[in-house]
Amino acid sequence: MARWVYIEDLKQHVGEEVELRGWLHNKRSSGKIRFLIVRDGTGFVQVVAVKNQVAPEVFARLDDLFYEASIILRGKVREDARAPGGVELDLVDLSVVQNPEDYPIPKVREENIPDVGKLLPLRHLWIRGRRQWAILRIRDEVVRALEDFMHARGFIRLDPPILTAMAVEGTTTLFKIDYFGQPAYLSQSGQLYMEALAMSHGKVYSFGPTFRAEKSKTRRHLAEFWMMEPEWAYATLEDLLDLVEDMLVYVVARVLEQRKTELDILERDTSRLEAIRKPFPRITYDDAVKLLQEKGFDFPFGEDFGADEETAISESFDRPVMVTHYPAKIKAFYMKRDPEQPDRARCVDVLAPEGYGEIIGGSEREEDHDTLVRYIQEHNLPLEPYRWYLDLRKYGTVPHAGFGLGLERTVAWITGIHHVRETIPFPRLLDRIYP
Ligand code: 4AD
Ligand code: MG
Repeated sequence: MARWVYIEDLKQHVGEEVELRGWLHNKRSSGKIRFLIVRDGTGFVQVVAVKNQVAPEVFARLDDLFYEASIILRGKVREDARAPGGVELDLVDLSVVQNPEDYPIPKVREENIPDVGKLLPLRHLWIRGRRQWAILRIRDEVVRALEDFMHARGFIRLDPPILTAMAVEGTTTLFKIDYFGQPAYLSQSGQLYMEALAMSHGKVYSFGPTFRAEKSKTRRHLAEFWMMEPEWAYATLEDLLDLVEDMLVYVVARVLEQRKTELDILERDTSRLEAIRKPFPRITYDDAVKLLQEKGFDFPFGEDFGADEETAISESFDRPVMVTHYPAKIKAFYMKRDPEQPDRARCVDVLAPEGYGEIIGGSEREEDHDTLVRYIQEHNLPLEPYRWYLDLRKYGTVPHAGFGLGLERTVAWITGIHHVRETIPFPRLLDRIYP
């Protein structure tokens, strides 16, 4: 009996006969030889069958196999320096679990970006493709790297609710739902709850889905996306910037180290990732506006940056740039103002290089009760749902700060993928909730 082995472990079984359980990803034939590309979730491997070296009924079965046939096969592991995983399999036996005649995605299209419109309705199958597989494996690595980093820095993970009664990031992108007859919303951000938890645990973070009814169709916007949100009691903006820098350096290095195969599949220019070292440039909003004007942008001072501006700013640096001190009036209600420039927020947007734009937004939080009440009112928000949040400023208030990292935008940057819809298993977009 051959042992069931996964493709990622084949290298440890050179010379042995093993069993693989997977799917037929691709195949080609050349005279008396058949080449099968088999995948099993952990990788792809070439299986070679030579006529006369395999039982005739097994060899005959190969020509009838369709793409994505589920198959169980036995083969002998052979070292091959030219093979992507360093090994190939010489086929001994093969049985078919199911042989689907009409797999709806032609193998050429699966890897072909211009056809995304046709592939999105087939997302439940498209995720089997090599590129999608590589992107989602890197997503997993980014998640784990973030979790490991935060824990190593003494942050603990706690999860805020998703059903909430108030806005965090403005009222225009709220998804309203009916909560037993009361109006409620899907969470835009767990931040306010993380602030409460930071007063209990000092250093906390959340990692979960957040929702924005974004009316825009851009390469950076999803209606449902995942955010990692640290909140840190007694921390300042400068503490946040140092943390962000160390965190992104760690995450990128970890992907480079652990996900080389996947980066190769995506043809990612890894020299751009190797450049992600400390220190990151730190510039103010004013510097960023000057930079835009020097680049010929007709950009009015005091406005928020749009996608084009963010792209232009981030393209000016080879590593993430941290833009601080935005005008308070274009930022969220909870942000602390700079005492020396009261119209500026003590905040940061981190723009990823290569034109990817904002991946992180964070700030110091206003900790004074009456000032915060005034900000809530100035933003035309009702006070009642924020009563518990205001309590935090009544009972042992402290300076504190935190940020949110958008997972899909971070993965898009690291993988070099143009659009965030390919960096989440099942994207929710303005015009799409299927599949
Ligand atoms: O800048 P944002 O809106 O900040 C917050 O929500 C804060 N409350 C976070 C905090 O301080 N705890 O969002 C943070 C990040 C953005 O930088 C971006 O990466 C991502 O979340 N993001 C989106 N990603 C995909 N689709 C969308 N519609 C996104 N909106 C924000
Ligand atoms: Mg933001």
